Amino acid sequence: MQFTNLLQLEALAREILDPGTFDFIAGGADDEVTLRRNREDFERIALRPRVLVDVSNVDTSTTVLGTPVSMPVVLAPTAGHQICCSDGELATARAATEAGILMALSTLSTFSIEEVAAVSDAPRWFQLYVYQDREVARTLIQRAEGAGYKGICVTVDVPRIGHRERDLRNAYAFPKELVLANLVEMQLERLPVGVVDGTGLGKYIASKWDAALSWKDIDWFASLSSLPIIIKGILTAEDAVIAAEHGAAAVVVSNHGGRQLDSAISSIAALPEVVEAVGDRMEVLMDGGVRRGTDVLKALALGARAVMLGRPYLYGLALGGQEGVRRVIEALGQELALAMALSGRPTIKDVDATLVKM
Ligand code: FNR
Repeated sequence: MQFTNLLQLEALAREILDPGTFDFIAGGADDEVTLRRNREDFERIALRPRVLVDVSNVDTSTTVLGTPVSMPVVLAPTAGHQICCSDGELATARAATEAGILMALSTLSTFSIEEVAAVSDAPRWFQLYVYQDREVARTLIQRAEGAGYKGICVTVDVPRIGHRERDLRNAYAFPKELVLANLVEMQLERLPVGVVDGTGLGKYIASKWDAALSWKDIDWFASLSSLPIIIKGILTAEDAVIAAEHGAAAVVVSNHGGRQLDSAISSIAALPEVVEAVGDRMEVLMDGGVRRGTDVLKALALGARAVMLGRPYLYGLALGGQEGVRRVIEALGQELALAMALSGRPTIKDVDATLVKM
């Protein structure tokens, strides 16, 4: 696994993954406008570095919802890590623990909440997708709390699956031996295979998830445990304010990596209005297109507490298992530390709005 930056990982992963799996990870919705925009809008932002600041010691550590972390990067919840590597989420969790960062385990993971918790007692979050049968949410939240997870990240941008044309063309299905390990006891663990008019995941979501999910449900989720609620998939100040009114501890400004509503605003472009609306009341995270240390720095300068990272660590997992994920995190951390040094910001607290020019 030879790489000098995270952007190269996509091409490397394409060489080793089967084409359908690669497209499932890399792809976006419709014309992939939002997928591209997530990157382009980062590139458009310029940095205003300060000089002659003592940067002999650079410290990327911070806290996210009170958890000390080595850097402001969280591994985003992503489905089915065994499509990348047989150790799946266990490898990801071990790498996150080694690196001292948080990960969010997807509802659609291929190792269970408890199996991942058994890897280490490092803090992590559980990401919730909501099924029509609300007992599923109750069970998952209570299992996550029981297994020591530190937050419930409710993803709110998938009332229906986005129109992912690569997957439709490929008639993509998860390998049939893979099961959604959290959902075995509810008999919801199998994605349909051999679907003709769509994808297995699309059919599963359409038939099992609840498109009627609304804000009142957030209150109920919050009442089920003592864990903080993180709402992932917010792109407007309006919704961020409602999230705050419903007691969310954090929001993740996200368009699901361009996989849901195409033409949606990029996450980095949406971040400032969300921070302005609720930044004094809650922690604001963002994800989508973070590939460079300078991207992390830009998001922080615009008021993010941390970023989430998606596809690059999945490519690392495919290319090198646990060690691959660890090296992806390490590379991003080194870039962040260098960017902090070169911009005269030795600690995360020194990163402020004057660092960026939009
Ligand atoms: C995702 N994402 C996602 N989000 C979520 O809340 N639950 C999930 O199960 C998944 N699954 C998933 C699978 C794959 C293959 C991808 C690429 C993404 C979205 C993810 O959490 C995150 O929002 C984006 O991946 C961030 O964008 P980047 O870093 O991939 O550009």
